[in-house]
Parts: sequence; structure tokens; C-alpha cells
Amino acid sequence: MLNGVFVCDLAQLPPGGARGFTVQTSRGTLDLIVLRWQGRVLAYENRCPHTGVNLDWVPGQFMDAPGRHLQCATHGALFRPEDGRCVAGPCAGDALRALPVQVENGAVWLPEMDG
Ligand code: FES
Repeated sequence: MLNGVFVCDLAQLPPGGARGFTVQTSRGTLDLIVLRWQGRVLAYENRCPHTGVNLDWVPGQFMDAPGRHLQCATHGALFRPEDGRCVAGPCAGDALRALPVQVENGAVWLPEMDG
């Protein structure tokens, strides 16, 4: 088994969709956005680079209406799902912090991170 923190079962992630999870790591509590996007599982810290708030005002809802970007509920910034880059809004050019999740045996894990 992977040396890390269990995040969720893969089955909890709808294709093309994102979900929010909170995990306890050795360095404290971490809010994550985990998504299945174009056959990959990706994760970002649930923290807008504009002011540091969580992106979702309705818990667990992250995608914009067309389903093409992650959207911050506070001021509407749009982020590319594939790399977390902000492409529109007050933090354009900045990015969500990517987290190196891994999939093993149908589960999503966050490896223990150093530093
Ligand atoms: S807090 Fe996210 S766009 Fe302003």
C-alpha cells in the first residue's frame, strides 16, 4: 500500500467532474479539489490564489456552467482543469497549488510530502 493519506475512492469522482475533500496530513488539515479530467486524476489545494478562500460556496461544487473550468465562487476566477492555471479573473496568470495524488487499487492517495 502507498505510504500516504487516503483521499477518496476513485468511484466518487464523476468523469469530467470535481469533488472536495478534507484530509489530515502530518502537517495539518488540507482541503483538496480532486477531479477526473481527460482520463487523469488531478488534485489541487482548495485555496484561491486571489484571497486564499476555498473556491466553492456550495460545498463540493467547482465546475463552471459549461463544465470546462474550475471556478472560484467568490469573484468568478476560472482555472484550467489540466494545470490549475487561472485564465480569467482577478488572479489571471496565477495558479492553484497542484498536489501529487496517485491512484492505487481504486483509491486516490496523497503521498506524504516533505518540506
Ligand atoms: S477569491 Fe477567488 S477570485 Fe477572488
